[in-house]
Amino acid sequence: MQTIEIKCDIKDINLAPQGQKQIDWAFKDMPVLKEIRERFIKEQPFKGLRLSACVHVTKETAALCTVMQAGGADAILVASNPLSTQDDVAAALVKNYNMPVYAVAGESVEQYQRHIEEAINHNPDIIIDDGCDMVSMIHDKRPDLIGKIIGSTEETTTGIIRLKALEKQGKLGFPAVGVNTSLTKHLYDNRYGTGQSSFDGVMRAANILVAGKTVVVSGYGWCGKGVALRAKALGANVIVCEVDPLKALEAAMEGYRVMPIAKAALEGDIFLAVTGDKHVVDVQHLLTMKDGAFVGNVGHFDWEINVNGLKSHTKEIKQIRPNLEEYVLDNGKSVYVLCQGRLVNLIAAEGHPASVMDMSFANQALGIEFLVKNKGKLENKLYTLPYEVDEKIAHLKLKSMGIEIDTLTPEQEEYLNSWKI
Ligand code: ADE
Repeated sequence: MQTIEIKCDIKDINLAPQGQKQIDWAFKDMPVLKEIRERFIKEQPFKGLRLSACVHVTKETAALCTVMQAGGADAILVASNPLSTQDDVAAALVKNYNMPVYAVAGESVEQYQRHIEEAINHNPDIIIDDGCDMVSMIHDKRPDLIGKIIGSTEETTTGIIRLKALEKQGKLGFPAVGVNTSLTKHLYDNRYGTGQSSFDGVMRAANILVAGKTVVVSGYGWCGKGVALRAKALGANVIVCEVDPLKALEAAMEGYRVMPIAKAALEGDIFLAVTGDKHVVDVQHLLTMKDGAFVGNVGHFDWEINVNGLKSHTKEIKQIRPNLEEYVLDNGKSVYVLCQGRLVNLIAAEGHPASVMDMSFANQALGIEFLVKNKGKLENKLYTLPYEVDEKIAHLKLKSMGIEIDTLTPEQEEYLNSWKI
């Protein structure tokens, strides 16, 4: 590819060779996305369309963005979190793919917002969002763009909550696909991806032993289920905190102890919040924790643990290691805060491994294709991709894993479609 001068805000273009190795490494474990890329190269479904993506800038999202580019999209990429950017990957996208990228690990909140504005100024036809910050900013500050936008896809539970709120108020300006709602997204990425990457983050940040510890998981959605599952597998004694009686019951029957956070706060050694809500681990809980407890967040935003509130009860904050701060409290105890209360799995670690993001990002790519193919036919609503798309992605993934499955015989098929005995 010919190199041209690309507008960007990245850490260091010289990191590109290392970043390219990471993107190639991710692609090795993304067979479904690679198959989609082959078809996109031939069919050029996004030719002439401008794509703005606001996602964690990782080797896996780089793979997704290059697939969209291979399908003809004029793509720009900005970060969906100020701390999660992989700077080498950002450099490779600019240098080797001529893709404008605005993302620097550790950027300030102001810089983060300016970067999203850059993506909005790209004047997109199509949008890939993670957390709904870009779509929310367009509705709030740039409603003039809404008429031109074909639609957007959304990666997370958190983002879908915000889109539903827009939809409910009749304010959603274009159709959106909730990628998180696809089975091949939340059953795998949320559960196995979050489960593994969260403990990867805890271990890289603190290098503590999980076996024998009491791990408190706030939230038993698909991400919480994964975190609890992996905590148990690592030898932890797991406590689940929930507000939903069905989820609480499920956790209890899975063998976890279930109790309110006020009680769990007294027992836990490691706390992980995975709810998508705010202040689920609040100041009064933080103050009653054991001396030396660890708290980390795996929800999209940084307000699940009330770290800001804790500051007014803190004598001193010591940076122990990268991504690990000791809050020395007025009450004489210490609480260790991981990654400033931001996503432990994407900041201390590298997010979910490529193998599971393969399915999530296959849904992203096919979600955008669905919006483009159905341009003008959809309502300004939140859509889920058809079940057949899930089936197709699952078949491709199984094939890549060398797993064969049975098919129904005509007799079985007929039986399942009949009502007579
Ligand atoms: N969310 C969780 N893991 C991720 C990854 N590896 N890349 C982008 N977004 C993610």
